[in-house]
Amino acid sequence: MRELGVILLAAGQGTRMKSALPKVLHPIAGQPLFLHALGAAQDLAPARIVIVIGHGAEAVRQAYPKGDVAWAVQEKQLGTGHAVLCAREAFTGFDGDVLILSGDVPLIKESTLRAMIEQHRGQNAAVTLLTAVLDRPKGYGRVLRDGADRVTGIVEEKDASDLQRRIGEVNAGVYVASAKFLFSALSTVKNDNHQGEYYLPDIVAIGLAQGKIVETVQVADGREMMGVNTREELAFMEKCLRESINRKWLLAGVTLKDPDTTYIDETVTIGPDTVIGPNTQLRGKTSIGARCRIDGTAFLTDVEIADDVELKFSVMLTSCRVGAGAIIGPFAQLRPGTELGRNVHIGNFVEAKAAIIGDGTKANHLTYLGDVTIGQDSNIGAGTITCNYDGFHKYKSKIGDRVQVGSDTTLVAPITLGDDVYVATASTVRHDVPAGALVFNQREEKIREGWTERKRQQMKGKNK
Ligand code: UD1
Ligand code: CA
Repeated sequence: MRELGVILLAAGQGTRMKSALPKVLHPIAGQPLFLHALGAAQDLAPARIVIVIGHGAEAVRQAYPKGDVAWAVQEKQLGTGHAVLCAREAFTGFDGDVLILSGDVPLIKESTLRAMIEQHRGQNAAVTLLTAVLDRPKGYGRVLRDGADRVTGIVEEKDASDLQRRIGEVNAGVYVASAKFLFSALSTVKNDNHQGEYYLPDIVAIGLAQGKIVETVQVADGREMMGVNTREELAFMEKCLRESINRKWLLAGVTLKDPDTTYIDETVTIGPDTVIGPNTQLRGKTSIGARCRIDGTAFLTDVEIADDVELKFSVMLTSCRVGAGAIIGPFAQLRPGTELGRNVHIGNFVEAKAAIIGDGTKANHLTYLGDVTIGQDSNIGAGTITCNYDGFHKYKSKIGDRVQVGSDTTLVAPITLGDDVYVATASTVRHDVPAGALVFNQREEKIREGWTERKRQQMKGKNK
């Protein structure tokens, strides 16, 4: 089997994005643009991948810190042919095929790339290019063919005659070429064209002139090869990508009540028979188990959710873990570092931050749980606050198993409540409480009979 190498072109500025951010770093479905095409290429398990960077090179490199790719810098953007030559050094001694694609084509499929490689090798071609027939081919290079339908070359829009501009078949900008042919052909490419650039597609005419075989593969759905050049195209491609991600989960046994308002990043996983309501965003490294129910209006980022979890209407969860059978919301926020055990209940207007909560524990109403560890089967009453911050430092609280915290309680950290502690309602607890103890604040309760009526009479007099 011949070796496969990949060159990903990502040196261009993306002027039409009108952005300080390099084009390939604009996020789409939760990832920088170029990581989508890179992912499709990586699925082919190539022997080496070289990413050509130039504009914002350092920032692009930072966006993919893994060591399994090589980087080549193109100082000046002299054209796609020149960009590929910049990667030449990384292919010294390499005698296989090179797949070349752009960093701005997020919908390109691994299966298409495989089909190209197969055809390229099967036909013993020097170069194989991907083409598409578009209703609006404007802007793309056109594929020129002779009377026998054989490719004769590629002409760029700006260099094309009026007649050539009427051709609907375009160069998708994805190529497979034998490494030897590629680099030798590129060293002869000239820049005597309208843009004064070294065009990669010129290798097609060079190969044909040398009597080599040039093959083409046509994509069925033109969207697959479309690039992102403007923010309008970014929005359109994001919509296409989102639809395809949603379709994937629908086919995998996940119910989406309203796919139009469901936003799932490519990096998310979801178990079967989970039901997802409208206006839900699942982002980053989020994973959702099987048979979960997400009512709707949910914003989840980097969250691990086990099976049979119920997220009621309107919840925001960030960098946390939720155990099986838990029920959260409505109107709850779980902030980073929070870990819920099995069957935990977090109710309305509860906020948790770095809260480790044991199995079966409940905090159902109006509560702030910050920097706290709580054992199993405890009940945190309405209006409980862990006072974790004194304006200078953050402190931790520890609450044992089967603890009953009465409503309207403030726990002043650092503090430990042992197992089976009972906190009377409206307590401010400042000291550790041993297991099994009751803690309460003594406050005198006074009752004045008939007070309300007297007060009303008095106020009436005043209003006159
Ligand atoms: C290119 C093709 C065109 C094809 C189209 C498909 C050329 C000359 N033309 O045109 O036939 O229809 O793609 O989308 O190749 N880049 C660099 N360095 C450079 C120039 C470009 O790295 O010096 C990178 C860009 O960042 C981009 C890719 O190469 O990722 C394509 O460049 P772009 O300028 O967008 O080419 P097109 O004009 O779209
Ligand atoms: Ca382009």
